[in-house]
Amino acid sequence: MPERINAVKTTFFGKGAIRLIGPELKKTGISRALLITDRFLYQSGLAQKVADVLSDAGIEYAVYYDVKPNPSVVIVNECISAARAIGAGVLIALGGGSAIDTAKAVSIVMENGGRVEQYEGVDKSSRAGLPLVAINTTAGTGSECTTFYIVTDPVRHSKMAMVDTNCMVSIAVNDTDFMSSMPPKLTAATGMDALTHAIEAVFSKGATPVTDKDAVWAIRIIMENLPVAVRNGADEKARTMMAYAENVAGMAFSNAGLGMVHAMAHALGGHYNLPHGVCNAVLLPYVLNFDMMKSEFAPRFEVLADAMGLSYNAGSAAQAVVSAIVDMNAEIGISPKLSDLEGVNPDDFQALTALAMHDTCMTTNLVPLTASDVTEVYTAAYYGNQ
Ligand SMILES: [Fe+2]
Repeated sequence: MPERINAVKTTFFGKGAIRLIGPELKKTGISRALLITDRFLYQSGLAQKVADVLSDAGIEYAVYYDVKPNPSVVIVNECISAARAIGAGVLIALGGGSAIDTAKAVSIVMENGGRVEQYEGVDKSSRAGLPLVAINTTAGTGSECTTFYIVTDPVRHSKMAMVDTNCMVSIAVNDTDFMSSMPPKLTAATGMDALTHAIEAVFSKGATPVTDKDAVWAIRIIMENLPVAVRNGADEKARTMMAYAENVAGMAFSNAGLGMVHAMAHALGGHYNLPHGVCNAVLLPYVLNFDMMKSEFAPRFEVLADAMGLSYNAGSAAQAVVSAIVDMNAEIGISPKLSDLEGVNPDDFQALTALAMHDTCMTTNLVPLTASDVTEVYTAAYYGNQ
């Protein structure tokens, strides 16, 4: 079957990479921009570094600095108003997945009209979005290189997953100077998001040799470097390798798709406003436990175990992988069960299951699932039943 691979046209990597966007923007002739970020990054001085680059390139800009974690439709709409007010010809997202996903949503609505809610699903827009530069400040979501973005519906308390080739950014920047101040908790959560992307890409119905190559490399690099980056955020090598690995994991899942972990994490994170990476990290070993009962996953578990450098006997690859994930979570300070996360209540699991079953990510899960399968995994993850 023919295979389509989407990739960002230009990605700048490495310390000081931010300086490279000025000349690129000058070439476009665009004169006005909206910088989209959050209050912390606005006050930290990183936004000023970006503003200086824009000024040097002769670009007039306005700043929207109220992006929140799990950004909602309300924030997207405020950004659209700000972008229209300045007549932005380019959006500059500064942040992790929240800022970049917000900017992707704004980009699509600016060029396609209507409301962001109507783009939930796969390839719902008809025109390429407004040009977008994504300056990544975490090593996790891969949003700077994917066809995915997530927006929270504040009425339903649920996340809408959009998969759209028209939302891809024009220029991505993974400058480690913008990642080195990440605190250990954020490094751990976003790093586990990246690991989950790579693992779900291997397990996806849409996996191909190209996406496997990316995912396997990313898994090896994350397993080696994430504990170091959490322990010592100043370790430049670990930060650099995580910046590459999260991007490569992003390319893997952007082209292969995701699965049950992300579908369940979206429902959980949207309902309780919990960090996306933590939701994935806690759910991941329980989903893998469930998957190991299905024969379809057996050869894929061997791919994972080899990528992680684990030794295993015939038939024990799956158990080795689950143990490695449990150990990783413990080493980097992630809770082992959902009951440790604020607000999570088993009484909500049926409602969360209904949301997860309708999540776009569920469409590429390797095996079909029933609602009772999903509720069973939420329950196991709540009580810590491995
Ligand atoms: Fe994710």
